[in-house]
This record gives sequence, structure tokens and C-alpha cells, in this order.
Amino acid sequence: MSSPFAKNFKKIRNFYIVLSSKRCFPAEIKGEQQLEGRLAKQKTRRTFSAAFICVKIKIVQIDILTLFPQMFQSPLSAGIFKRAIDRKLVGINIHNIRDYTHDKHHTVDDYPYGGGAGMVLKPEPIFEAVEAIKSNISHKQGDNAVPIILLTPQGRPLSQQIAVELSKYSRLILICGHYEGVDERVREHLVTDEISIGDYVLSGGELAAMVVIDAVVRLVPGVLGSEVSALDDSYATGLLEYPQYTRPPVYREWVVPEVLLSGNHAQVAKWQREQAIIRTAERRPELLDKANLSSEERQLADRSKQP
Ligand code: 6GU
Repeated sequence: MSSPFAKNFKKIRNFYIVLSSKRCFPAEIKGEQQLEGRLAKQKTRRTFSAAFICVKIKIVQIDILTLFPQMFQSPLSAGIFKRAIDRKLVGINIHNIRDYTHDKHHTVDDYPYGGGAGMVLKPEPIFEAVEAIKSNISHKQGDNAVPIILLTPQGRPLSQQIAVELSKYSRLILICGHYEGVDERVREHLVTDEISIGDYVLSGGELAAMVVIDAVVRLVPGVLGSEVSALDDSYATGLLEYPQYTRPPVYREWVVPEVLLSGNHAQVAKWQREQAIIRTAERRPELLDKANLSSEERQLADRSKQP
């Protein structure tokens, strides 16, 4: 990188950066190229000499409403969540829906009108919990810009694209559905989005909420060791990942493909790309429709598809 801030930038490349000066507006930007673009823009505005860079770490605040707060304890205390929370890149608050009831028995559910099996989550505690959380959101954050997401098998199927979309918000509110369902008025008048994690039935939205926040949190700048890892992900490229190997080069007479030991980076990259295409064609051919392939790569994909 050729800009005079190259050294600073390297140190802070995982984070959102705010450039500002007396004369220009602070702007939230992300990524190396955009930084360069912004610097160029500032230069042309002749504000460059007055510009300074400060690092603004993007913080994502996630509030989760659940009947089973304990379920979140262990997942949040290890791995990616712990890292993100310790680094203060992400804040996760777990709220017990039961705390927002007013009756002696802390009733959160009731029989369904019209009969039928199972219980239905009552609307009042859910509305009150969300309203209490939203009342703490400053107007600067724009409270109607906060997605309120109900986890339900009836929601739109989670995808990498949805995870990317959600990772751009600075706040998210997740509601874990339960029992046979949630009073429809919660859907109609409170939630702004409904998400499912697949075509099978879970007993509650908690595990689904954990899946959603895992997919989102790892996209927050600075959470992964390197930004490159998220960009390289299967699904980010539109292809499944190529096979990976580590030492030893021979294990029980099974050898690592020779090209990987060659040290020839171009050959290695070519092999990995081919393997990703072959693997995707064999296992998830429907993903290839959206993948960006050259005509040669298309031919390889067609040859690799199972009959
Ligand atoms: Cl979000 N909730 C429940 N209960 N089951 C599911 C789901 C969600 N996604 C798939 N199955």
C-alpha cells in the first residue's frame, strides 16, 4: 500500500476506520481499497493535511430473548463468542422472557384459542421485553433500524447472504420461539424478520439463535484472526472448500497430494480452485449456478457432475 498511512493501516486493518478533519465529515469505511479511496477523496478536497485517522471498532450488540437463558451460558463462554466478547467487539445480552411477566406464577404461555395441542407464547412479556431493550437504544442508533428477529421454522431460510446482511447492523434483537408457537400478534406487530435454520423441527429457537449469531459474529471485523478467512469461506466464493491437508506428508501410507508439497504457489492455487469446483459439482451442483466460473471451469464442473 502506497499511502502515507500504510503503517497505521496495517495495524488496524481489521477494524472500521473513521477518517475525519475539521472540514470533512467522519465517515465509516471498511477495507483497504475504500480507505485508499477515501484518502484520495480527502486529498482532492484539500482537507488531507487536516485529516486524522482514528480507529473505531465496530461493536455489535445482540439481545436475545429466551425462556432458557442457561442454554446460552456454555456456548458464549468458549471459542469465537468468548474471543469476540473479550475483545469487546460484540456484546451479547441474554434476557429471560419470564422476567417480563407480572403475575405470581410468571406465566409465559397459554392454551391456543380454537383448541389444539401444545401451548402458545403470550404476547405481553415478549412485547414488554423488546420495548425495555429498545428503550435503551439511543436515537442515534435509530431504533427502527434494529431488526427484531423471530427464530421460527416458518422463517426465511438462513444463508450466508443473510448472515452478511445481519452483520452490518450494530444492534440485533433475537426472539427464541417455543412450544407450539408464538401469538400471531408478535409476528404482525413486533418482529421485523423471521429466520429458520433449516427444514427440520427443533424444540425451541435457542439453538437456531446460536447458529445465527455464530454466522454473524464471525463476520464482524476483528473477530476472526484474519479477515481473509471469512472471505475465503465456502459460500463466500460460491463454492465448497477444497480438501485441506497438514503434516505429516505420509500417514499410514496415505500421501498428501504432491502439488501441495511443491512450493509452487500458482500450481497450488490452481489445484485448490479445481478441487473446489469438482467437489461442488459432485456434492452441491445447484451452487454452481451462482458461482463465478470461467468457461474452462464450467467445463470442468460439467464433467464432474454426478450422472
Ligand atoms: Cl428457528 N426454530 C425451531 N423451533 N425449529 C427450527 C428452526 C427454528 N429452524 C429450523 N427448525
